[in-house]
Order: sequence, then C-alpha cells, then structure tokens
Amino acid sequence: MTIAIETTDLSRVYKSYQKPEGILNSFKGMFHREYNSKIALDKTTIQIESGKIIGLVGANGAGKTTLLKMLSGLVTPTSGDAHVLGFRPWERKYDFLRQISILLGQKNQLWWDISPMDSYALLARIYDLDVEKARNRVGDLAEMLQCTHVLNTQLRRLSLGERMKMEIIGALLHEPRILFLDEPTIGLDIVAQENIRNFLTNYVKEKSPTVILTSHYMDDIATLADRLLLISQGNIVYQGTVNEFVSNSNSELAVDEKVDFEEVIRRFLQTESRIR
Ligand SMILES: Nc1ncnc2c1ncn2[C@@H]1O[C@H](COP(=O)(O)OP(=O)(O)OP(=O)(O)O)[C@@H](O)[C@H]1O
Ligand SMILES: [Mg+2]
Repeated sequence: MTIAIETTDLSRVYKSYQKPEGILNSFKGMFHREYNSKIALDKTTIQIESGKIIGLVGANGAGKTTLLKMLSGLVTPTSGDAHVLGFRPWERKYDFLRQISILLGQKNQLWWDISPMDSYALLARIYDLDVEKARNRVGDLAEMLQCTHVLNTQLRRLSLGERMKMEIIGALLHEPRILFLDEPTIGLDIVAQENIRNFLTNYVKEKSPTVILTSHYMDDIATLADRLLLISQGNIVYQGTVNEFVSNSNSELAVDEKVDFEEVIRRFLQTESRIR
C-alpha cells in the first residue's frame, strides 16, 4: 500500500478584517483594526492511499476547498504538516506541481479572453510537454467529452457546461498523478453532470490517479468515490467506505427505516445546520 497524501494536524485559520459601521469608525479602523479569526480547518490528520478516489463531503463552509487548496499548494497552513507524493505542497516545487492538478469548479483557471486551444498551448509550454503529444491528448479528451467543436472558441463565449469540459481538459493535460476536483459538476444540467461523471469514471479506470473529489451532488460521490471523508466545521468526522457509512447509519435505525446514501448525507447536513 502506497500512501499518496498524508496530513498531520493540518490547520488553517483565516483572519479577516471586520469593517465597522459608520464613517468615524471606518476612519478609526485605518489606525486600529480588529480582526476576526476563523478556523477553516482544524488539526486534520488523514492518509490517502495511492489510486483511490476520495469523496470529500460537507456543508457549505465546512472547509473542503481550504483542505484541497492546502494539498495543492495554493494556501499555506497555519500549523501542522502535509505530504503529497512526498512533497510539502506549499513549497510549490516544479516536480510537485507537474504531478498534480486542481480543478476549482467555482473559478475559471483557463484564460478568459483566448480560446481553450490557445490556453492548452500555453499550458503545454509551462509543463514542458511535447507539443504534438499534447495536441493529440487534447483531441482525445475533447472527443471523449464531446466538445471538439468549441476548442477554438474564446472561453468567455462558452456555456457553463462547455467551459467546465474545457477546464477538465486543461486539468488533465499533463496527466497528473493526483487530481483535486472541487465541484467539477457545479451548476451543470443533469445530462452534462452525467457526461462528466461517465468521463471521469472511464478516466480513472484507465489512468488510476489518486483523486479527492468534492461535490454537493451525491450522485457524483456515490458513482465515483471508493471512500468517504466527511467534514464538519473544519473537522473530519468520518473516514471510511461509502457502504460502511450507510450501513452504520442504518444499524442505528429501526429495521423498517432503511435509508440510502443520499438520505444519510441529508440527515448529516440537517444535524449540521441545527448545530450552527
Ligand atoms: N480567504 C478567506 N478569508 C477568510 N475566510 C475564509 C477564506 N476562505 C475561506 N474562508 C472561510 O473558511 C471556511 C471554510 O471555507 P471553504 O471554502 O473551505 O468551505 P467549503 O467546505 O469549500 O464550502 P462550500 O461547500 O461552500 O464550497 C468558511 O467559513 C469560509 O468563510
Ligand atoms: Mg468549496
């Protein structure tokens, strides 16, 4: 068993400036600022085996994106440690960056004013890929995602679903060994969600990357994930298989009240919203 990702007490606290009401207080705030601290992730210790697909699930604001940003080196932890493929992500070593990829569904990462094809050419340069191989790879991925016809259109002229497909190709261009997918199907219609889910299922079967996936659509998690990481207010509250999680929840219920995965998650999130 090879461990691809491990963290020890990994934590991130965000400090944000609370702007006071009124002009006088705003003026005072220029000299003396009061900051609010928010523990986005609290002493998280996890180990993820190579080649596994992990579904990271939790309510809005639970800390999912924060964890993925730290594991991909976009955000530095406040304390604790992490190793991804043996590297400390936030050191942002080139050898690390060329083996990982992060897709942020809520953000465009490709260049807005040029075509995806031109963005891929730039990415190929950045990752030092063979130009011909990269072009073929884009062709193959675009065919699988049925989006060849939009490769040469300016990104900002594409629909949300088309843009997401373009982002996925960009994220996979350098064949990363580790893939962080933060809401890859956000805002897509159910057919587009299904297309992307099928594509990812085939892709991971073929290439066996290690994946952490977040989504608020439980079909994504149920279809793709081998294991589940449940996060609540910055704390991991469950690590294990989806099946174990459902059967544990069912064993706590009356026999005539068996629930499925989506229902178990719904109940978990309902409890969450009561605690807040
Ligand atoms: N740059 C930032 N500055 C201040 N606070 C932040 C920042 N980024 C995140 N937070 C706070 O950290 C907490 C965790 O945010 P995070 O984005 O990780 O949640 P999430 O689980 O990805 O939620 P969602 O499902 O809504 O995407 C939230 O309370 C959020 O307000
Ligand atoms: Mg998020």
